[in-house]
Amino acid sequence: MNKVLEVKDLCKTYVVNKRQNHILHNVNFILEEGEYVAVMGPSGSGKSTLLYSVSGMDSVTAGKVLFYGKEISSLSSNELSDIRLNDMGFVFQQMHMLRNLSVYDNIILSAYNSKQGRGKEQREQINARAKQLMRELGIIEVAENDITEVSGGQLQRACICRAMINNPKVLFADEPTGALNSKVSIEVMEQFNRINQEGTTILLITHDAKVAARADKVLYIMDGNIQGEFVLGKYEGPEQLKQRQNSLNNWLRDMGW
Ligand SMILES: Nc1ncnc2c1ncn2[C@@H]1O[C@H](COP(=O)(O)OP(=O)(O)OP(=O)(O)O)[C@@H](O)[C@H]1O
Ligand SMILES: [Mg+2]
Repeated sequence: MNKVLEVKDLCKTYVVNKRQNHILHNVNFILEEGEYVAVMGPSGSGKSTLLYSVSGMDSVTAGKVLFYGKEISSLSSNELSDIRLNDMGFVFQQMHMLRNLSVYDNIILSAYNSKQGRGKEQREQINARAKQLMRELGIIEVAENDITEVSGGQLQRACICRAMINNPKVLFADEPTGALNSKVSIEVMEQFNRINQEGTTILLITHDAKVAARADKVLYIMDGNIQGEFVLGKYEGPEQLKQRQNSLNNWLRDMGW
C-alpha cells in the first residue's frame, strides 16, 4: 500500500516572548492510502499544530514529513502550492472563504485555478461536480447567496464542498463538525465516510467520540506526543456506530480522556 504520509520524529517549537514552547515532540506515524484516521486529545495538546505541520502549511522544527515519499520541507513553494491545490483538501477550524463572492463561486474558485481546471470542458465538469456536492450536502438552495448570507452550518458544508471539488488524494479536517448541530453533523460525517469509501484518504481532528468512531483508527495525542492508537476497522454502516462508540469510549477512558 502507498504511504500518503510518513512522519518521522516530528518536532515543533514555537518561540513566544523569547521563550521556546516545545509543542510536538518526536511524533511518528504513517497514513496509508485509503485510510481514515482520527486524532483526539485534550485542548492545547498540539492537534492543530500537527495538522498544519504535516500538510505543509507550517514549517517543522525537526524531523521529517514525507508526502508520497517526498520530503515536504525540500519542496519549493511552487511545488508545495501545486500539491496543496491538486492533491490536498482542507477543512479547518477557521474557515477562509472570500467575502463578496457567492457560496458557489467560493467552491469552484480553487478548482478553476488548479491544473485540472483549465479549459472549457474541465470547467463544465467542475461546475457539475460542485452542483452534485452541494446537492449531497444540502446547500444547493444557497448557491447564489453571498458568503455572509448563510448559517454557520451551511458555511461549514460549503467548506467541505470546496475541499472536495478537486477530488483530492487526502483530506485534512480540523473539527469539521465543531459548529454544526447533531443532525447536520451526522450528514457531514456520512459524507466523509462516503468519500473515504470512494478512495480519499482522511486525517481528521475531533473532540467528538461519535465522529471519531467512524474512522478506521484513532490516535490519541497528549502533551505533543502520540500516546496510543485504537484500531476500529472500516466503518460499514450506521448499525455499527453504537458498538464502535462504546469500544472507543472505553479506550478513551483508559487514555485519560
Ligand atoms: N502560532 C503559534 N504560536 C505560538 N504558540 C502556538 C501557536 N499555535 C499554537 N500554539 C500553542 O501550541 C499549543 C498547541 O496548540 P494547538 O492549536 O495545536 O492545540 P489543539 O490540540 O489543536 O487544541 P484545541 O483542541 O483547543 O484546538 C498551545 O499551547 C498553543 O497555545
Ligand atoms: Mg485545534
